[in-house]
Amino acid sequence: MSVDDAGWISELMTRWRPHDPVDPVVLRHRWANFRLDHVQGRWALRDAAGNVVGFGAANHAPWEREPGRIGDLDLNLAPEVRPQADGIIAALEEWLRREGARAAAADAEGDEHWLLAALAARRYEQVSAERFWKLDLLKRRGTLLELARESEAKVTSQGLALLTFDRFLNRPQAWDKVIALYQETEADIPQNPGDHMLTPPEIVAELQAPDVRPDRVWLVVAGDDLAGLSFLSFPPVRGQVWTGYTATARRYRGRGAAWAAKMATLAQAIELGVSEVRTGNDERNAPILRINERLGYELLPGWLRFRRPL
Ligand SMILES: CC(C)(COP(=O)(O)OP(=O)(O)OC[C@H]1O[C@@H](n2cnc3c(N)ncnc32)[C@H](O)[C@@H]1OP(=O)(O)O)[C@@H](O)C(=O)NCCC(=O)NCCS
Repeated sequence: MSVDDAGWISELMTRWRPHDPVDPVVLRHRWANFRLDHVQGRWALRDAAGNVVGFGAANHAPWEREPGRIGDLDLNLAPEVRPQADGIIAALEEWLRREGARAAAADAEGDEHWLLAALAARRYEQVSAERFWKLDLLKRRGTLLELARESEAKVTSQGLALLTFDRFLNRPQAWDKVIALYQETEADIPQNPGDHMLTPPEIVAELQAPDVRPDRVWLVVAGDDLAGLSFLSFPPVRGQVWTGYTATARRYRGRGAAWAAKMATLAQAIELGVSEVRTGNDERNAPILRINERLGYELLPGWLRFRRPL
C-alpha cells in the first residue's frame, strides 16, 4: 500500500476504533514524511468477499542504526477478525524475522482487550506504559484562562517572552534553533530500546504538518534564544486535539517555561471553541506528569508497549 491509500485506510481505522478517529490528511503526511529510511511493509487483509477487514504494518530502522535489531509491528482489525489476531501477528513477526529482526515491539491501548490477549498469548512482555489524559476545557475554562495569564506574567518577569512560531520564523537560524531544541530535549524523554529520535527533516515535517499551524505553536524565547515550545495538533478533517510536543531547553528548565507555553496553547484552544484536549506521556516522565496533574487532566486508558524476542 502507498501514501495514496491513507485516505480510505484512515476511514476504516476510524470505523474499527471510533473512540480514536484517524485524520486522512495527517496519516498521509505521516506516511509521506516519517521513517523514510526504515524498511516498511503495509498490508490490507481481505475477507473471502474481497472486503478489507484489517490492516497490518511492520517496519524497522536500518540495522546499522538499530543494533538491537528490534522491529515494530502494528495491526488494526475489524471486530469480526480480531479472534484471528494471533495468526496475523505471527505473519508480521515472520516478515520481521526474514528482514533479520531479533525482536518485535508492539503497542496496545490499555482497554484493547483482544489485542492484549493476543500479545500475551504470543509471549510479549510489557516494557513501558504511556499515560493518556484528557482535559475538559469547558469545565475548567475560567481557571485555565487565569492560569495562562499568571504563567505568562511569571516568565515575562524573568526576561522571557511568549510568541507564536510564525513570529519567530524570520529570525536568524530559526529552524536550526528549533532542531537543536528537539534534539536536546528528545534525548531526555524516557526511551525504550528500539525507539528512534526524530531526524532533522522529520522535525521540520512535524512542525509543517497539516494539523500544526505556525500561529498555534507557542514558543518561550529570551531575545533570539529559544527556551521552549509547546503545541497542539488540530486535525483538519477528524480526530481529537492533542498536545504535539512540549519541551524546554535544559538551560531554562524549572522556571515555568513549559507550563507557560502549554497554558498558551490551552488558552488559544479555548478561544477557538475546542471543548477537550488530550495528551500522552511516558509514566517515567515525572516533570510533565506533574504539569498535567496540576492542570486537572483526567486519566484515560493508557498505551502499553510490548516486546518479545523473535
Ligand atoms: C518536561 C519539560 C518540558 C519541563 O520543562 P520546564 O520548563 O522545566 O517545566 P516547568 O518549570 O514549567 O515545570 C516543571 C514542573 O515539574 C516539576 N518537576 C521537575 N522535575 C521533577 C521530578 N523529577 N519529579 C516531579 N516533579 C518534577 C517542577 O517542580 C515543576 O512543577 P512545579 O511548578 O509544581 O514546581 C522538560 O523537562 C523537558 O523538555 N523534558 C524533555 C522533553 C519532554 O519530556 N517533554 C514532554 C513529553 S512530550
